[in-house]
Amino acid sequence: MCGIVGYIGTQAATEILLAGLEKLEYRGYDSAGIATVLEGDIHCVRAKGKLYNLREKLQREVNPATIGIGHTRWATHGKPEEYNAHPHTDTAKRIAVVQNGIIENYRELREELKAKGHEFRSDTDTEVIPHLIAELMAQQAQQAAATAQPFPFLEAVRQAVTKTGTDTELIPQLIAELIGQQVHNSASTPQQFPFLEAVRQAVTKAGTDTELIPQLMAEVMAQQIQNSAVTSQHSPFLEVVRQAVNKLEGAFAIAVICADYPDELIVARQQAPLTIGFGQGEFFCASDTPALVPHTRAVLTLENGELARMTPIGVEVYNFAGDRLKKSPRTLSWNPVQVEKQGFKHFMLKEIYEQPGVVRACLEAYLNADWNADSDRSPIKLNLPASLYENLEHVQILACGTSWHAGLVGKYLLEQLAGIPTIVQYASEFRYAPAPLTANTLTIGVTQSGETADTLAALAMESQRRASQPPQFQTRLLGITNRPESTLGTMVPQIIETHAGIEIGVAATKTFVAQLMAFYCLALDLAYRRQTVSAIRLEQILIGLRQLPAQIELILESQERYIEHLTHDFAETKDFIFLGRGINFPIALEGALKLKEISYIHAEGYPAGEMKHGPIALLDAKVPVVAIAMPGTVYEKVLSNAQEAKARDSRLIGVTPMNDPEAAETFDDLLPVPAVEELLSPILTVIPLQLLAYHIAALRGLDVDQPRNLAKSVTVE
Ligand code: F6R
Repeated sequence: MCGIVGYIGTQAATEILLAGLEKLEYRGYDSAGIATVLEGDIHCVRAKGKLYNLREKLQREVNPATIGIGHTRWATHGKPEEYNAHPHTDTAKRIAVVQNGIIENYRELREELKAKGHEFRSDTDTEVIPHLIAELMAQQAQQAAATAQPFPFLEAVRQAVTKTGTDTELIPQLIAELIGQQVHNSASTPQQFPFLEAVRQAVTKAGTDTELIPQLMAEVMAQQIQNSAVTSQHSPFLEVVRQAVNKLEGAFAIAVICADYPDELIVARQQAPLTIGFGQGEFFCASDTPALVPHTRAVLTLENGELARMTPIGVEVYNFAGDRLKKSPRTLSWNPVQVEKQGFKHFMLKEIYEQPGVVRACLEAYLNADWNADSDRSPIKLNLPASLYENLEHVQILACGTSWHAGLVGKYLLEQLAGIPTIVQYASEFRYAPAPLTANTLTIGVTQSGETADTLAALAMESQRRASQPPQFQTRLLGITNRPESTLGTMVPQIIETHAGIEIGVAATKTFVAQLMAFYCLALDLAYRRQTVSAIRLEQILIGLRQLPAQIELILESQERYIEHLTHDFAETKDFIFLGRGINFPIALEGALKLKEISYIHAEGYPAGEMKHGPIALLDAKVPVVAIAMPGTVYEKVLSNAQEAKARDSRLIGVTPMNDPEAAETFDDLLPVPAVEELLSPILTVIPLQLLAYHIAALRGLDVDQPRNLAKSVTVE
């Protein structure tokens, strides 16, 4: 939900900000804008629609500014129009702000600020922030004026004439003396000019090579920053932003610049992601790391309740109370290539093709390579503490969207393999109608981004609800995520990292398959510990799991061209039905979700047995039915449910085992996958459905990676 970026350094900021926004466009893409400090003023350019509209506007100008902020928007408050696009400025246009999140108390603040004469120009919640900062800045200036003696000459005259018994002739002499004293008392050491002092120390260091001077200066400056003020008050700009964020309620990440402080960029985080990137004499900030990796891999993710002052010489981090915090950057392991399309037409297609590698990475990370049925330890190494599993009686899974579908497969595995009663709830529903408390319960939050507001809030609510309960009801939290550095990562004590690598396409593909892998590992680990499955059976399942990457490769090789060709028949189709049963029912839901979100075709997923209880009324020759029919407990049942659809003239498409004559007879079109056992089949059956959705959307010329109205990371309720 919205992407924010910022830059401060020595290069022209505009192109860096635009390139950063391009990497974050998956977060929102209904308008965009950037603001820089140019020749003592805020220079703000915004455009409705996708980023290329902004780029086109900016092409007409030359802007050498070396500080700036940028934003790509997913509208929450106010229509996606240019006047609602970020950055937003105060009445005098001296302060510019970009925000990701929602300011919940914006109405009260807006009224207060309007009453004080601030002029609002948008319908957004964000606009209160620059006005609030301007208001606090004005108050700060007033206070400073009241305490300081800003007119030294006047002060000298005042002191001279009030000196008792002063001869009039002596007054000029006295004034001169007092001015001399003022000068003497004021800046008399170079330390008051930190930059000058750094140069002085660097050049006076004996035997210094000229080349080393910049490095030496940087060291001295870093030291200066560490030794200097330990509160936010030494920077008036930082101090007013700090005061402002303390007045905001909600979940937000902001970046702020001010024309009167051209060397400072202030950022703050409260429940919305924000990461700072450390370059050589330049610093970056962004809502997500893909915008940072082309410049640096040294990053620092702010925690909730933290703000940072970025200057061309360094970064200082503070808490919202204003205390300086000691923080060090960490090094990201992935490289810029991972956020490029690498020859694929869309990120989604590239990510579909990355799935064999993702499954391999999970197997490598979580399977004990030398395990066999005679081993006396678990085949799985999740490194989770024994306390998480102790006396486990229930599991509850909280998630949204595709992650919720992964949770449904997880429920099947946990119940069928490990025998643990499991419920799966939409996080957005659970928040307001939680299931009654059960003892010895493991709560699993599933979110690829680790930032989904509903999932995080549901987990927080669950922890709070259990905190005052007896020991057996205490919360046991586990997160399944692709982004361990996310908010989820800081919120839950235990994580299963899904190793999918960054996913850019808004429609989740490889992260879904990776979440399924996490559930296979968890269910097998629990099955081993609870002895609900024999060692021989475990070994069989593990052999099957190891074959999956090559089997996905086979589907991609043998199916993609065919599916691309098949989609031409659906150029005009308006509705699709997806059917599945048992462990493949969630895959039917996922197939329908993929299709509707990127092709905008209405699609519904149903348990195949439910068709005759209503939805069958929808069927006719214009409504194709995709049925997942894999050998196992429900194979024959799905085939007969499919026949019922055929009898209503629907075109029948089957995701079936390769070389299956019965399936070939039943279906009009086949999307065959290797014949694996039912338990493992979801990892394979989802692949043709992803390709089907992708090619229908691509054929329709739609923006596959950034479908309308959607965003990759849903950080609002
Ligand atoms: C669908 C999709 C969404 C997400 C949902 C939850 O392709 O991507 O339905 O699955 O918004 O997102 P995460 O997993 O980040 O919590």
